[in-house]
Amino acid sequence: MAKLKLPAPPLPAALQPKPKRPGTAERVGPVEQVKEGAISAVDWVDERTSVTGAARWMMFRKVPKGTNWFYTLGSSTLFAFLSQATTGVFLAMYYDPSATRAYESTRYLTNEVFLGEFVRGMHRWGSSVMVVLLFLHMGRVFFFGAYKYPRELNWIIGVILLVLTMTMSFTGYLLPFDQRSYWATIVGVNINGTGPIVGPFMSDFLRGGAEFGQTTLSRFYAIHMLLVPGALAALIGAHLYLVAKLGTTAPPWLKANEPQEFNRERV
Ligand code: HEM
Repeated sequence: MAKLKLPAPPLPAALQPKPKRPGTAERVGPVEQVKEGAISAVDWVDERTSVTGAARWMMFRKVPKGTNWFYTLGSSTLFAFLSQATTGVFLAMYYDPSATRAYESTRYLTNEVFLGEFVRGMHRWGSSVMVVLLFLHMGRVFFFGAYKYPRELNWIIGVILLVLTMTMSFTGYLLPFDQRSYWATIVGVNINGTGPIVGPFMSDFLRGGAEFGQTTLSRFYAIHMLLVPGALAALIGAHLYLVAKLGTTAPPWLKANEPQEFNRERV
């Protein structure tokens, strides 16, 4: 027979912990103080904006059963974009978008600036990483049928993100202004010119006139630095809003439970 244990008798009143006297604050360590400070700051902002409601809506969502590693490809692409944006800011601190100074400023950045070669390498390789991740993410969405109703608009936004990412690669390639980037971009602009109807206008627009030179470089720099990153950031925001609103799609091999089976289980 199992032994029954009686609960311990209550402590006599003299031994019970004394209630705190009003006004005597408990001594807290620095970690608690930092935590308190952070909570107060968040509370202060939240009281004026109610922003934590939106943050909670965005971050604490139900994910479908069967969610797997393939679902991390979108966030990986996002991380690659953020890394490109960050390293790009540091490159822009040294880069000079002038036809006579661009090559020299890039050489200086690579050979003389502390960690310059490393940051340039991260940006250069990161661009390829972003394109590869983008295609893998797109493949995941395609093979899981995640482009279907009601997510068609998110697929369309994705296609625009793809075109914009390609534009980043194309415009960025010219910026070092060495022999390879110069001639490769001439080929690229000429290929653009062979497109039907809009082709010649496109190549004129990209060159910034009839000749390939300073105006072309300035134009590519402005597109690479301002126009496309701004559009990418805004569209990624819209893309993520739709992901949060609609939720992600379950893997196609998961079948929904039969309603009857579900009912039987619950009854
Ligand atoms: C800069 C590029 C992109 C970023 C940062 C990005 C980011 C994301 C993230 C974080 C998700 C949610 C998690 C996931 O399913 O992986 C997602 C979902 C999705 N993405 Fe992208 N994406 C990009 C490009 C694209 C492209 C090129 C397409 C298609 C043409 C696309 C179509 C979709 C669709 C349809 C969903 C919903 C998937 C579902 O409901 O399961 N995205 N994206």
